[in-house]
Amino acid sequence: MAKIESVNVKKYFKIKNKGNQYDELPALGGVDLKIDQGEFMVIVGPSGCGKSTFLDLVSGLTLPDEGTISIDGKSVTGPGLDRAIVFQQNALFPWRTTLKNVEFGLESINSDKDNRREIALDYLSLVGLSGYYNHYPHQLSGGMKQRVSIARALALNPGILLMDEPLAALDAQTREFLQRDILRISKESHKTVLFITHSIDEAVFLGDKVAVMSARPGIIKQVLDIPLTAEQRTRDDVAATQEFVQSRQTLWKLLKEEVIKVQEAQIRFQSQSPAQSPARVSGNGLINAVRVLTKI
Ligand SMILES: Nc1ncnc2c1ncn2[C@@H]1O[C@H](COP(=O)(O)OP(=O)(O)OP(=O)(O)O)[C@@H](O)[C@H]1O
Ligand SMILES: [Mg+2]
Repeated sequence: MAKIESVNVKKYFKIKNKGNQYDELPALGGVDLKIDQGEFMVIVGPSGCGKSTFLDLVSGLTLPDEGTISIDGKSVTGPGLDRAIVFQQNALFPWRTTLKNVEFGLESINSDKDNRREIALDYLSLVGLSGYYNHYPHQLSGGMKQRVSIARALALNPGILLMDEPLAALDAQTREFLQRDILRISKESHKTVLFITHSIDEAVFLGDKVAVMSARPGIIKQVLDIPLTAEQRTRDDVAATQEFVQSRQTLWKLLKEEVIKVQEAQIRFQSQSPAQSPARVSGNGLINAVRVLTKI
């Protein structure tokens, strides 16, 4: 049985239009995806295709309009301690120190104060923040705050880790180190991971499998097996291996088609709007194309 299974999951959002009526925006168009126990599944897809929407549904923070998401065969009806989330933007409590932020999730499941502190300190050390346990979030850099969020999720020791572009705000070197840490920790502790990224290299390096999402309404266009061994992933020259280069190329080809669809839809939308002159339309189209492409 799959650890996480999504069957024909659809999600619509209601958007108020000019006539004060609501239009339905289809965000997910029927997502089918299976993730096995201990598997590292990465999702890539153009900006706005519904990746975060899907992750929210797996977390139980929101519910599908159609279809089902199940964990260990049971339908998801809300959040649970078996799933921890690291968001695109850190969600730390500004009034709590780094240590107290990491301890937060543990307070509801572990009543032993000294034990909680010990676990929190261990995870802060793991993400390279040993010396910062008494700092408040406003005293940390963006990257450090994101590392605290990762430590907080890991400290809960959940079976499933849901990560929505958790490393996007980090500098390139810290990002590489943390990628390796996340991979090592997830494998050592047999976690099932659903990880969203815009970086193809990150997707190939981390993923046992990479699911490519189509332009909105998002569906899973293809799931690619990444044939890198655990040993290859520990090597500094992993990105130069044939397996890495080939996976990267295949992924980029699949993704590029979807990014182009998004650009074309933008240009169509703008050319239908009477407020836009043709020059402005192509200009905006270009700017949007650059926006989409630079996120990858
Ligand atoms: N609460 C909401 N209300 C209305 N529309 C929403 C809501 N949340 C998301 N959307 C819309 O649903 C679509 C999918 O959004 P989502 O955040 O899932 O995309 P994404 O793939 O995560 O994008 P990105 O890569 O930029 O983070 C977008 O068109 C977005 O505008
Ligand atoms: Mg998102």
